[in-house]
Order: sequence, then structure tokens, then C-alpha cells
Amino acid sequence: MRAVAVAKPTGSPELMRLPVPEPGPGEVLVKVVAAGLNPVDWKLADRARDGVAEAVYPLIYGVDFAGKVAALGPGVSKFNVGDAVFGQPAPAAVGAYGTYAEYVVAAEDGVLALAPDALPLPLAAALPTAGMAALSILDVGGVEAAQTLLLVGAAGGVGSFVTQLAASRDVRVVAVTRGVGELLMGELGAADTVDAKAGPPVDALREAYPDGVDALVDLVSPPEAFAEYATLVSDGGVAISAIRSADVESLARRGVEGVNFVVEPNGHLLARLAAEVSAGRVTVQLGAQVPLADAPDAVARGRAGKAARGKTVILV
Ligand SMILES: NC(=O)c1ccc[n+]([C@@H]2O[C@H](COP(=O)([O-])OP(=O)(O)OC[C@H]3O[C@@H](n4cnc5c(N)ncnc54)[C@H](OP(=O)(O)O)[C@@H]3O)[C@@H](O)[C@H]2O)c1
Repeated sequence: MRAVAVAKPTGSPELMRLPVPEPGPGEVLVKVVAAGLNPVDWKLADRARDGVAEAVYPLIYGVDFAGKVAALGPGVSKFNVGDAVFGQPAPAAVGAYGTYAEYVVAAEDGVLALAPDALPLPLAAALPTAGMAALSILDVGGVEAAQTLLLVGAAGGVGSFVTQLAASRDVRVVAVTRGVGELLMGELGAADTVDAKAGPPVDALREAYPDGVDALVDLVSPPEAFAEYATLVSDGGVAISAIRSADVESLARRGVEGVNFVVEPNGHLLARLAAEVSAGRVTVQLGAQVPLADAPDAVARGRAGKAARGKTVILV
């Protein structure tokens, strides 16, 4: 099959031909229609290169897919050949079952669900990582209707899903973006939008929200900038970092719950996400669709922070 993989730890992703993987007991083989591109794709490859994660080479890129079930391993009962599905590969060493490939193996009890009817498969491929993270962040944050959520990195993959999901629950979303304006964020449901291009807009936010905000979800800031944003969270509130920037102990000293969030993907979360999409509470902001052969360039653009706004999907 055609796949985009790195041949050795120091290699760059390239298009190559690799054997089609075989589904084991409880696993299905999926013919991939599209793979979603996420920052975690190159973060995993980097962790493998640095010896931090167990990996196999050639290491196939990608963790999100949508496609059709092509074959069943022994004992599979929840899915049938031909089902339109989306999700993430079966647990394995990094690179064994990447999704930038014509076929991938997924576990029926793993991160696999029927794709939402209303959504073409290329759009469903954009959902798993960012959508499950967004749903789960809101579960952890426990933000309720009429409360104020300060969301930093709001225009990206995770942020656009958090914005839509929170707004659908009548949470007041204050979006901090880098160059994405009020009009676009307002369409997703943000109540207020601030551009951070000139640096963290903490002073302006303090003036606009003198009583503070109930929750901070920060998807992008390193520890120092995160700590600055967290000063805006009122007593009893919660400050969540998606990139381990929260100093939980020092936040606790001023009555704020700090969380270094890590998503735990599972089939139940994925099915809840599909239901949110079917109910019209979440749409995918598509940035670009690229053919498999162009995936290495798309990864390079993502790494350089030059990706198109919205999700990139790779058409296999
Ligand atoms: N902990 C977890 O379980 C988990 C799960 C999923 C994702 N993540 C992490 O969460 C982060 C976001 O993921 P994603 O998929 O949403 O990435 P993404 O699609 O690249 O979105 C990031 C967004 O943040 C913007 N941004 C960057 N720096 C900013 C700043 N200083 N102020 C305001 N906005 C800024 C980016 O703007 P530009 O386009 O201008 O760069 C982009 O719109 C990644 O680091 C990812 O690895 C963690």
C-alpha cells in the first residue's frame, strides 16, 4: 500500500510502498479515505526519534482516520465490512499503524465508531484527536451556562471545537487567537475575540473582565504566558493547559484548580463526538485537503506554524 512514513529515526516523511497490515483478534482492517493532520503527528515522530517512545520503522505518520471497514479479524462482532467508520488505530508501537496510509488496523473496542451520517468521510477524518480533546477538556473544566471561558488558541483544531461545544452550552467564550478576527470566531459562537499578535493581551482582558473569568483553557502558551493568563481566573475557577504549562501547586495556593490536561481517547468519547456532530452542535472548519503525496509538505507547513486556518485532511 502507499503510505507516508519516515524510514529511520533521523529521516523525513516521504511517500513509500509498505505491506498492508493484518487485523488480529478483535481488530478490523480499514480502507482509509482520509487522514486528519494534527500537531501530535510530528510530536510522536520526534518522541520516537528521541527514544522517548517505542517505535517501529518505517514509522507511518498519523493518528486520525475515516474510511470503510475492509476486513474483519477473528471474533469481531460490533462492525461489518463496508461500515463507514472514523477513529484512531489499534494500540501499537508508534508508527506501526499510522493513518497516512491506504489501510490501517483499528480495535473494535478501541477508538473506533460509526462515522456521523451527516458528514462526508474526509470531514470526519478531521474530528477524532481535536474533537475528543475538546469534549474531554469541557468535561474536566465543568464550565456551565452563563459562565465565562477564556480560550487561548481558539481558532485552531481543538480550539474551534471547544468554542462550538461551549457556545452550544451557553458558555460565554472569550477567544484569544493569533490573527483570526471577531467575525470568524463569532460564527463559531465566541462572544468576544482578542488578537494576541502583539503579545499576551492580559491587561486588556483584565480591564474588560474586572471580576475575572470562571475558566481558562489554554491550548498553546508556554508556562510563563500561561501563568499570566491564569491570573485572570477568579477564586474557585479552573485553569487548564493542553501542553503541560500549568503550575498546579502555585495555582492551588490562590484557590484556582490547575490542570495539565491529557486526552484519553476511547470509543465512548468518539461516539459522543459523533452525536454532537449529528445534532448540529459541531461542524468541521476545513482548512485544506491535500493528496497523500503532498502530506510531507503539509506536515512541514504545520511544523512551521504555517498551516491553513482550520483542519488539514489528507485524501488517501
Ligand atoms: N493534551 C492533550 O491531550 C492534547 C490533545 C490535543 C491537542 N493537544 C495540543 O494542543 C495544541 C493545539 O492543538 P490544535 O490541534 O488545536 O493545533 P492547531 O490547529 O495548530 O491550533 C493552534 C492555534 O493556536 C494559535 N496560536 C498559536 N500561538 C498562539 C498564541 N500565542 N495566542 C493565540 N493563539 C495562538 C494558532 O495560530 P497560528 O495558526 O497563527 O499558529 C492556531 O490557530 C497542540 O500543542 C496540541 O499538540 C493536546
